[in-house]
Amino acid sequence: MSSEKLNPVVRAAQVSKVVTGPGDGDGAKALTILHEVDLEIACGEAVAIIGPSGAGKSTLLSLLAGLDHPSTGHLELAGFSLNELDEDGRAAVRAGRVGFVFQSFQLIDGLTALENVALPLELNGIADAERRARAALVAVGLADRLAHRPRQLSGGEQQRVALARAFAGTPEILFADEPTGALDTATGEQVIDLLFALRDRHATTLVLVTHDPALAARCDRQYEIRAGRLRELASDTAGTATA
Ligand SMILES: Nc1ncnc2c1ncn2[C@@H]1O[C@H](COP(=O)(O)OP(=O)(O)O)[C@@H](O)[C@H]1O
Ligand SMILES: [Mg+2]
Repeated sequence: MSSEKLNPVVRAAQVSKVVTGPGDGDGAKALTILHEVDLEIACGEAVAIIGPSGAGKSTLLSLLAGLDHPSTGHLELAGFSLNELDEDGRAAVRAGRVGFVFQSFQLIDGLTALENVALPLELNGIADAERRARAALVAVGLADRLAHRPRQLSGGEQQRVALARAFAGTPEILFADEPTGALDTATGEQVIDLLFALRDRHATTLVLVTHDPALAARCDRQYEIRAGRLRELASDTAGTATA
């Protein structure tokens, strides 16, 4: 496959992120955490971004998903140029198109599994939110845990609720930041299997940040980021590239 995507759903061109940190003496010092990143992801692809802690993976994912804005460079999401948009404009692009899964699940403690999945649908004005939330929880094997709160669920079960929440909105693109990072190997594998089954059912584009070689190997393409510099890994090194 050519690396030039005809209709990329996620595109970064020469994207850099510079933040201001404390300098050595007095005064602030500019810190470049992403250096001129180029990346294109086509509709339906599953792409992994791997790299050591602190390399800039979460920062890049936030930019690609329209949660943050770059210092320089151009970003496109689902065919929209993000550069000219403010936070409200980026939120409008994300709504109904983009789903998220995080390492720490990020469920709301005081809400049941059903309420956690239904809430974002309700906030997006979807009329049959509860019915859809229920169906999404059934699809992740949690039909008998609808009324349970996060604290009553295991880590793997909580991440399945988070998957249900993400896919209930039928996103075009799902961004996941170390979705198996807080789980043991066997539970992580179950979550990965479920993630790809849901991807197959909904034809979702996947952008995954991971330390997990098993997860990276399941993806169509892999990128590695080191000290804020991104490169695509050759396909013949896929799955062995996280050492
Ligand atoms: N807002 C910020 N201000 C200053 N430094 C930041 C900010 N966000 C991230 N960083 C730094 O940028 C680097 C990359 O962070 P991050 O994207 O979270 O890495 P990763 O997800 O690969 O572990 C780290 O050194 C982190 O401390
Ligand atoms: Mg991170």
